Amino acid sequence: MGDGRPRIIQGMRGTGAESPRVCIIGAGPSGIVAAKALREKGIELVLYEQRSRVGGLWAVSDADAQASYPSLECNTSKRRTQFSDFPMPAAFPPFPHNTEMAAYFDAYVDHFGLRDSIVFNTSVQHAAPAQGGGWDVALSTGGTRHVDALVVANGHHRDPRWPDPPFPGRFSGRQVHAHDYTGPTPFRGGSVVVLGMGNSAMDIAVELSGVAGAVYLASRRGAHIVPKHVLGQPIDTFNTALPVPWAVKRVLFSLIARATIGRPEDVGLPRPDHRLGESHPTISQRIIERVRAGAVIPKPNIAALEGDRVRFTDGSDVHADAVIYCTGYNVSFPFLDDTVISPVDNRVALFHQVFPPDVPDLAFVGLVQPFGALMPAAEEQAAWIAEQLSGSYRLPSRGVMVEQIRRDREARERQFVASPRHTMEIDFHAYLRAVRRERRGGATRPEAPRSQPPAGIRGDALAVDLVDAAHPVGERVDQRGHR
Ligand SMILES: Cc1cc2nc3c(=O)[nH]c(=O)nc-3n(C[C@H](O)[C@H](O)[C@H](O)COP(=O)(O)OP(=O)(O)OC[C@H]3O[C@@H](n4cnc5c(N)ncnc54)[C@H](O)[C@@H]3O)c2cc1C
Ligand SMILES: NC(=O)c1ccc[n+]([C@@H]2O[C@H](COP(=O)([O-])OP(=O)(O)OC[C@H]3O[C@@H](n4cnc5c(N)ncnc54)[C@H](OP(=O)(O)O)[C@@H]3O)[C@@H](O)[C@H]2O)c1
Repeated sequence: MGDGRPRIIQGMRGTGAESPRVCIIGAGPSGIVAAKALREKGIELVLYEQRSRVGGLWAVSDADAQASYPSLECNTSKRRTQFSDFPMPAAFPPFPHNTEMAAYFDAYVDHFGLRDSIVFNTSVQHAAPAQGGGWDVALSTGGTRHVDALVVANGHHRDPRWPDPPFPGRFSGRQVHAHDYTGPTPFRGGSVVVLGMGNSAMDIAVELSGVAGAVYLASRRGAHIVPKHVLGQPIDTFNTALPVPWAVKRVLFSLIARATIGRPEDVGLPRPDHRLGESHPTISQRIIERVRAGAVIPKPNIAALEGDRVRFTDGSDVHADAVIYCTGYNVSFPFLDDTVISPVDNRVALFHQVFPPDVPDLAFVGLVQPFGALMPAAEEQAAWIAEQLSGSYRLPSRGVMVEQIRRDREARERQFVASPRHTMEIDFHAYLRAVRRERRGGATRPEAPRSQPPAGIRGDALAVDLVDAAHPVGERVDQRGHR
């Protein structure tokens, strides 16, 4: 993988290899759909999951934090979220609860007979490129296993992102990241500042508004808020697969938001400094109503922490027992050395978010932030990886991959507000079209000459420099894509 070579795994199609040859890390939605795609191509695999069950962050548990909370419901509708060959039960509501999602992923694993490929309670501690190709994978249970290829599906909502630098001052109350929020009970009757305008902030502020004494919703930027339902239908029903230009979709969704829940600024939330569609969707049926009712009080960004008080950038201050930071996540791969992949400000330079051009035998699943559900995107990526591993698809040359990464990055930076939360943002339908086109193209592609990265480029230096043959080594591309 990753250097233009088709990689045909020895011992495939039940030819009797004794050990698994592909290692998948993580049994969340991305890992299990990858396992199924590889199985279908007859590729031998082992999937390591550090927890005792599948479903990733949808398998909410008291035992370990997974960036989810007992009240969590999907905010992408079941028809848009389910895998293509395994519909969610008709009895599920349009936006399933996390327990239903977890049950669905469990059923998927059993339906496709994947459970015997999963090794539970086993975390991958370290994975390193092996001499002569493939990977050496060190496990929490001891020992190292050699595999031919590594598929990383460890999720990108695992590593909490705190304000950096932290807010000045000292706070005497409780400071929690959304990742570790387990429900409203510990905040009962208290005064809570919730920071952020993403979906975690919406869910948590709404939930606390019925329990806490006071809830302040602080933000450094306004967000366009869209409802979950429109005309009795899930809102993502209106995000059509037809190649409608964004300008048209923007008008449609702006009208929908205006006509259903109104504008954020009308209730005192900050007016967004960008157009709808230029940031990750903030979906909430209830936040506007809770603000209108006075149960959630809008505030600008935090300026300082002063003992048991929080001061905001407009000079106002409030007493607070807790601050909940809904400030997003870092993309991280703790088991990979920085010399292999090292995300910088959440940027990872991958060909269509899957293949690193400079690291062979490595692929990623689920590393996207879609305008839509993640699961169908992961399913498409998984099918693509399986084709590449089985030799029925060939990657293009390094130069082509790097150029595509550069183009995607420039387009992303033109469309979205500059923020680490948008470095993997994709327009769901456009992305699926692009990957399908690439899969078709690679099916008949002649073998590309092997190419090495330019001297000095290693691992994910691309994420920073985006250097390729067309752009001399060392020439930097800044945040807006200008040289
Ligand atoms: C609160 C919240 C709500 C969301 N709601 C939606 C939604 O409604 N719709 C949507 O499409 N997306 C949603 N998302 C995005 C979410 O990332 C995806 O739904 C989905 O969970 C991603 O699946 P994944 O398999 O890539 O990652 P995860 O679900 O995070 O699963 C990763 C798995 O890898 C395992 N793992 C990690 N490291 C290791 C290791 N070293 N060794 C072994 N195992 C390891 C973990 O234990 C976990 O089981 C939401 C995200 C959050 C935070
Ligand atoms: N019900 C659901 O299905 C549900 C619930 C929760 C989360 N999710 C999903 O989970 C993912 C993560 O969502 P999230 O809301 O946790 O994170 P997020 O989407 O990354 O949003 C982070 C928010 O924090 C703000 N922020 C970041 N750093 C800050 C700082 N230093 N000071 C002030 N504000 C700061 C960001 O502002 P900027 O925009 O200015 O960067 C943004 O408003 C998303 O995919 C989301 O859709 C889904």
